[in-house]
Amino acid sequence: MDYFEVVQVRHSVRSYKPDPVEPEKLQRILECARLAPTAANRQAYKVVVVATEGNKEVLQHIYRNPWFVQAPYILCVCSVPGKSWVRSDKKNYSDVDAAIVMDHMVLAATALGLGTCWVAAFDVEATRTILKLDDAWEPIAFTPLGYPNDSTFKKVRKPLEEMVVYTGPDLGDYKMTAGKQFQIQKQQLKSSLGRVEVVRKIHKIISGN
Ligand SMILES: Cc1cc2nc3c(=O)[nH]c(=O)nc-3n(C[C@H](O)[C@H](O)[C@H](O)COP(=O)(O)O)c2cc1C
Repeated sequence: MDYFEVVQVRHSVRSYKPDPVEPEKLQRILECARLAPTAANRQAYKVVVVATEGNKEVLQHIYRNPWFVQAPYILCVCSVPGKSWVRSDKKNYSDVDAAIVMDHMVLAATALGLGTCWVAAFDVEATRTILKLDDAWEPIAFTPLGYPNDSTFKKVRKPLEEMVVYTGPDLGDYKMTAGKQFQIQKQQLKSSLGRVEVVRKIHKIISGN
């Protein structure tokens, strides 16, 4: 299945067979999580792999729909906001990182013939307690992982014209404030000092003193 077909056939699977998921497939899916990009490459996330066998009753406290526990595994992506990248205006990108990680796994699972369904409407408190999560982790999304027990699906999407805006010739005018200019100059100075430091070190190595 190429990428475009994967995107076409991925859908929210809300019925699973109890068939086991091959360990190699699980490993390949987790490897795709590892390769996901994160802001500033902080990789501040955890993937919790939950085996449902023998745990179904307690796991239903996390999310009540019966299909949540039908598959052999549930994956939970947690962010670690204290370690993720924060923009200068204080916007923390931990949710974005976690979403990319989840999507990498979801698409990998689809490519391997497995079903998934994003779940965000879970009970956070129950999740923290049942999965014994570290306080620094924030559960962002779950998905069951197993063989789908559905044969049809329907993609309900708005037309592309509603979602995409093409722009270019008619851009807004923007004047940089003095404060911003100062910030940029400071950053440039910092990075040029960094370069001087590197040059100094190379010179030291070459000259031997
Ligand atoms: C961030 C996110 C959270 C979601 N949470 C839930 C959820 O809690 N329960 C559920 O049944 N589906 C959930 N979904 C699935 C969406 O309802 C589904 O992706 C959407 O209706 C489009 O359908 P499709 O996935 O079959 O293409 C979630 C999807 C996303 C992306």
